[in-house]
Amino acid sequence: MEHQFWHERWAKKEIGFHEGTVNQYLHDHWPEFAGKSTDTVFVPLCGKAHDMWWLHDRGHPIIGVELSDVACKDFFEEAGEKAMVHPGEPFTRFRHDDLEVWCGDFFQLVPADLHNTRLIYDRAALIALPADMRPRYIDHLTTIIPDDSRILLITLDYDSEEMKGPPFNVSDEEVHRLYGEDYRIEQLLKQDMARDNPFAKRRGLRNGATESVFVLTKRPDA
Ligand SMILES: C[S@@+](CC[C@H](N)C(=O)[O-])C[C@H]1O[C@@H](n2cnc3c(N)ncnc32)[C@H](O)[C@@H]1O
Repeated sequence: MEHQFWHERWAKKEIGFHEGTVNQYLHDHWPEFAGKSTDTVFVPLCGKAHDMWWLHDRGHPIIGVELSDVACKDFFEEAGEKAMVHPGEPFTRFRHDDLEVWCGDFFQLVPADLHNTRLIYDRAALIALPADMRPRYIDHLTTIIPDDSRILLITLDYDSEEMKGPPFNVSDEEVHRLYGEDYRIEQLLKQDMARDNPFAKRRGLRNGATESVFVLTKRPDA
């Protein structure tokens, strides 16, 4: 997906992916995933997800990365919070307390940027990318995060004949293909999205869709 595509989506406010409240799977599975940890959470392709406030309220420092400066500004403004803005290259950093949103290209991150991170939350990041970009995304993500970090991943699968992404359909098999060599994969949930779900209806998914939640942990020998 070209950067221009996302900038236009934000400019036109075509942001149907934005939930405006905490994601239900995050809410339900975070305690099991993170335990009592208050480690730093990295949120790739974070948009203006309310999830970051929810995680921050639970004591986690946050680093999110997002291409759109509209999203970065809205994230703080809509919460009624002021952010310190540190312009720079390749990222302009928006900071409130220890919640940071870095405005720029995910692919410009380097390992030193995330050396304190132990937990990664991927909702609508992997599935925002077309199939040919996903291996590059995972190569980069797994290069920049520390080896002892873990990933909570939420995916969506549907019949690709019925709908054009984003969000793209990512099957459980694809998660295994992409991550399986280097990561232990534990599936916490696989759930049918009802056919009368507003998203399924709006996007013409007559056969519905499924959502999966995974925990990914780097194999010691990888
Ligand atoms: C489908 S949205 C999901 C946003 C967020 N995770 C959520 O749950 O609401 C994908 C986001 O990724 C951003 N994005 C796309 N490519 C990016 C890149 N290379 N670097 C940083 N952000 C990117 C887009 O601007 C968009 O806000």
